[in-house]
Parts: sequence; structure tokens; C-alpha cells
Amino acid sequence: MLRPPSPALLDSLASLLGPRGFSREAEAMEPWLGDWRGRYRGRAAALLSPATAAEVQAIVGRCAEAMVALVPQGGNTSMVGGATPDVEGGALLVSLRRMNSVRSVSAEDNVAVAEAGAILSDLHEAAAAAGRRFPLSLGAKGSATVGGLVSTNAGGTQVLRFGPMRSLVLGLEAVLPDGSLFEGLSALRKDNRGYDLKQLLIGAEGTLGIVTAASLKLVAAPGSHSVAWVGLGSPAAALALLRRLEARLGEAVESFELVPEDALALVLAGIPGTRPPLAASHRWHVLVESVAPESGRDAVDALQEALAEALGEGLAQDAVVAASEAQAAALWRLRESIAEAERVQGPSVKHDVSVPVSAMPAFIEQARAAVETRFDGARVVAFGHLGDGNVHFNVQPPAGATAEAWLAEQAGAVTRLVHDLVGEAGGSISAEHGIGQSKLAELARTADPTRLAALRAIKSALDPAGIMNPGKLLPSV
Ligand code: FAD
Ligand code: MLT
Ligand code: ZN
Repeated sequence: MLRPPSPALLDSLASLLGPRGFSREAEAMEPWLGDWRGRYRGRAAALLSPATAAEVQAIVGRCAEAMVALVPQGGNTSMVGGATPDVEGGALLVSLRRMNSVRSVSAEDNVAVAEAGAILSDLHEAAAAAGRRFPLSLGAKGSATVGGLVSTNAGGTQVLRFGPMRSLVLGLEAVLPDGSLFEGLSALRKDNRGYDLKQLLIGAEGTLGIVTAASLKLVAAPGSHSVAWVGLGSPAAALALLRRLEARLGEAVESFELVPEDALALVLAGIPGTRPPLAASHRWHVLVESVAPESGRDAVDALQEALAEALGEGLAQDAVVAASEAQAAALWRLRESIAEAERVQGPSVKHDVSVPVSAMPAFIEQARAAVETRFDGARVVAFGHLGDGNVHFNVQPPAGATAEAWLAEQAGAVTRLVHDLVGEAGGSISAEHGIGQSKLAELARTADPTRLAALRAIKSALDPAGIMNPGKLLPSV
């Protein structure tokens, strides 16, 4: 049974962490008690900001003894309320943001070691300074941290070639729920000493311990890269284009992001300084990025040629290849701002689903028709990582409806319909954002009991008192 922290425990943590590492002030805690989407707001007894793994160990050890809940937090960009404490106010929020150094970058080993609070864009810069690249990126790169990315097994826009965090983590340092330190900051590419504890912690959403640092795979920086925006008629045409480009350019295709006309319209209307990428309008678009090694042919020429062929074959309706870094960044901004543009527009029912890649075009069309037929006036915006078989299948309330009232009445039924179709297609209700608190009920409804029982057994073996991020990832029994 979890307990709120006693005054004695709070005093001991205050003296352990000092004024920079301990706060109970409402103003200091306020920004961290709600989620990025504005769907959840919780309370916490204090905000703890440790500066070292030893301080994290002391916090967890004392809280394990006192049965006090801990909610780890990085950049607080979770899409599923994973880093927001509950409303009871008995938990302690543990921010890793002070532990933000990139400890080392080895170009020889192709490995970077970064602390949990290191921000993704800082890691990108540190790798680039050594002529290397950390090949995972996402719209929240200016805030999301290494610990959060590890703990959500984040995906993003380069999974097509490099996989999600799970395939980029070589080792972890983490404090386990009894306060012990797992010193697994390995640079090894091969290590078969039994169960892989780091893989359990990846995607655990803070329920099995607190990640304090990670060793991460780097790859060679490309010699050149090319970004294009393509207009086309359907998700099926988009997938055919991807396979055509792969046949022509092979592994060089790193990103292939699907954007429907209505998502682009949201961005153009809601994000200052954005402009339409193509002269005419198209029902569907993709953003493609391809690269070439230093010794290879220039990526821009190669992509231009491949796209010209695809246009000739009728696979695409129009395309523009960025002629400068500024143009490439502007095209990426259109794609990466969709989440923000949706937030500006108002609340929607968000889904983060995957199905086999080949099934995705039919899934998008069928699920859209099913939702729009059953929920009069509802508008589907399905965008994202087509090359990974993952889209964000979001449903906006009918124009003119009071959003919150419509969502209160319909969101559950919309989600059940979408997730049932995902199940029929052999898919997953959480492709990359995790379960957090927003998908708990649907995980309980849809998950295979054997899978849930195994997850619960792992949780109770490592965190028998249940102090680590309670109320997240695992539905209550
Ligand atoms: P937080 O939000 O702080 O925490 C996320 C979860 O991890 C919580 O459960 C928290 O308790 C836990 N946690 C955090 N740090 C630690 C730690 N050190 N140890 C243990 N547990 C910890 N996600 C994608 O996968 N792909 C995308 O393309 C993508 N795009 C996004 C775009 C935008 C604009 C936004 C706002 C979010 C996007 N996300 C995306 C979601 C989010 O950015 C990722 O889930 C990211 O990994 C969260 O990192 P964070 O540091 O903000 O973690
Ligand atoms: C994205 O791909 O843009 C993110 O995962 C954010 C979102 O789902 O809105
Ligand atoms: Zn995404």
C-alpha cells in the first residue's frame, strides 16, 4: 500500500538534494504537473531534481522503504500522460532534466554516452561535432530527453532505416526500484549473458526503474542528403512510391512520412510562417528524405532522378526537391508541426496505431469510412510513419460541435471502433507513444491475457511495492 511522504522523508530529501534539487513551491512545480496535450493534470508532494545517479539511488532507496510513489519525468512531451502524476498528490515527481550532459562521443566505437536528461537535439549536435549522427529524430527533439526516449521506446521519422530506440541502445545505467544501481553502460555490440535487462527497461515508461544514462549507437554522418515533398492520390500510391524509390535508391531512403491534405491545411492555418509546398492541392502528400555516403553520388541528384521516373510512371502527381538547407528545413517543419497544429485546432481523439505495412493503405481508407459513417461529421486526420506501418489516426469533433462535450460523449466509442479495426488487421494500439494513462483501458480490453500476466509478473518481480510510476502502462487487476 503506497503512502504519502512523511514530513521527515521530505526533510531528508530536501537536505540530500539542496535548494536546486528540491522544491515544493507551486510556481516551480506547475509547468510539470500537466501533459503536453493538456489532457491531464495531477499533483505532487514535491519536485525532486537530482544531479547524479547517486542522488537518484538515495531518493529511490528512501522512497522504497517508505512506500512512496515516484513519477520519473524528462522533457514532459509524452503523448499519453505517462509523466503526469495522479490527482491524489502523494507522489514525488523526479525530474532528470539536471542530468543533461553528453558524457562522451566516440567516433571510433560509434557510441555516445548521454545522461538521462540530455535533450535529443543536444545529442544530435554532439554527434555531428564528431562527424557522426544519432539516427533518431522527432518533432519534440528540442525538449524530449534520452531517458524519456528510452523509456517510451520512441520511434520518430527514421525508424524506416534505423529502427526505434530499442535498436539504438547499447547499454543503460538505471536505478532499480530497490535503490540499487544497474551499471550496464556497455559499448558492446554483442552480449549474451542471459535476460537482457536493458531491453526490459526500454519502453517500461518508468515503471521498472529510473534510467540515469544510456550508451547509444551512432552512425556515419551522410555525405549529402535530400528532402522532397510529393503530391499524390492515395496512401496506396504512396506505398507504391516508397517501394519504387527503395528499388532505385535502396537503403538511402531514410524517411517516408505520409501527410493528408487536411493535416497540411491545419499546419498552414495554425503555424506561423508556413507556406504550401506545391502549386496545386493534392489529397495526399509524402515527405521523403534520402542520403548518400561521402563517396556516393549526390543525394539530391539521385532523388530528383528517381522522382522524375516515378512521376513519369504516374506514381506521383507532383514533387519538389529542396534546393537548399533552408528549403529542406521548411519542408520538415510542415511535417513536424502537425502535432502542434492539431493542438492549436483543439482537442481530438488521438490514436497511434500500427498494422503490417502492406495493410496500411486499406486500413486508412476503411477506418476513415467506418468512423465518418458512424460518427456524423467527425473528421479523420491520419498521418505519419507510413514506411513503418504506423499512423496517427486522429479524429476531430464535427465542425460546430462543442469539442469537450462531443469528446466526453463519443471518444470512447470512436477509440473502440478504431482499435477493433486495428485488431482485425493484426495491429497494435500503441505503435510508438506507449500506454501511459491514456491507453490503459484499451490495453486491458484488447490485450492477450497471457501477455498482460507476463507484464504483471515482471513488474511485481522488480517493483514489488509498486512505487515506480503507479497507474501507468499496467491496467489495474
Ligand atoms: P517524458 O514525457 O517526460 O516521459 C515519458 C515517459 O517516460 C513517462 O512514462 C516517464 O515516466 C518516463 N520517463 C522519462 N524519463 C525517464 C527516466 N529517466 N527513467 C525512467 N522513466 C522515464 N514520440 C515518438 O515515438 N515518435 C514521434 O514522432 C513523436 N513525435 C512527437 C512530437 C511532438 C510535437 C511531441 C510533443 C511528442 C512527440 N512524441 C513522439 C512523444 C514524445 O516526444 C516521446 O514519447 C519522447 O520519448 C518523450 O520524451 P520525454 O523526455 O519528454 O519524456
Ligand atoms: C508525430 O509523428 O508527429 C508524433 O508522433 C506526434 C503525434 O502523434 O501527434
Ligand atoms: Zn509519430
